[in-house]
Amino acid sequence: MPGPAFFVVQRVFALREFLTIASQGVFESRGLLITMEGIDGCGKTTQANLLHQRLVHEGLSPLMVREPGGTAVGEDIRQVILNNHYSLSLGAETLLYMAARSELSEQVIVPALVAGKVVLCDRFTDSTLAYQGYGGGADLKTIRYLNHFATRGINPSLTILFDLKAEEAVARRTKQVDRMESKDLNFYRRVRAGFLELVNTEKQRFLVIDATGSIDDIAGLVWSKTLLLIEKAGIC
Ligand SMILES: Nc1ncnc2c1ncn2[C@@H]1O[C@H](COP(=O)(O)OP(=O)(O)OP(=O)(O)O)[C@@H](O)[C@H]1O
Ligand SMILES: [Mg+2]
Repeated sequence: MPGPAFFVVQRVFALREFLTIASQGVFESRGLLITMEGIDGCGKTTQANLLHQRLVHEGLSPLMVREPGGTAVGEDIRQVILNNHYSLSLGAETLLYMAARSELSEQVIVPALVAGKVVLCDRFTDSTLAYQGYGGGADLKTIRYLNHFATRGINPSLTILFDLKAEEAVARRTKQVDRMESKDLNFYRRVRAGFLELVNTEKQRFLVIDATGSIDDIAGLVWSKTLLLIEKAGIC
């Protein structure tokens, strides 16, 4: 049985670890990070592209990135994660996403936010919580901790969740499925429920959109919310 000194040392190490991680988040963001989330096929890329075009039309210089990817190493990691020939353990899969996220955050997102840009990210931290956590069973607390570590504590100003039933998402598929898309329907049901659970814990960050609406109607909702945000942030 360890003595009291052991627990004191353990607490000191835990505090030191916490302070190290917390200090990584120190940078001044003048921009906005908007993330697009939801299960495969819900319309994230379609809407990210439309929002990007709209922002360019309005005279802004937005940056659009996707996860995993957006850097040279991140795109290579993407090939590994999505490769149908691999069968990755849940831990390896989670950490590969985190490695790609760390590269993207450090090299692309943080500098863009410091420069005052609007950054659109097609999937981000919530996808790991929903897929590897709620879908795959990985510990949510550990994922949150790793998300913080990988992103230097970046939190999106807005996360748009395109909510769609698993069956409807599968029905929209037109191309050959990759490793992540080859999971069964129950997996996607858990992921969808996971996303909705995340909304419940952080309502103010999320905009939930029914993804069965028309592409144009959804783009209208996305733009209205984005316009409010960029006006409030004085980015216009
Ligand atoms: N609102 C919509 N109604 C009907 N079909 C849509 C809608 N939005 C997108 N689609 C279509 O659904 C398919 C998937 O869309 P998209 O690629 O944008 O989804 P995604 O969320 O980015 O998927 P993934 O996670 O696999 O990258 C595409 O064929 C797209 O044209
Ligand atoms: Mg996409």
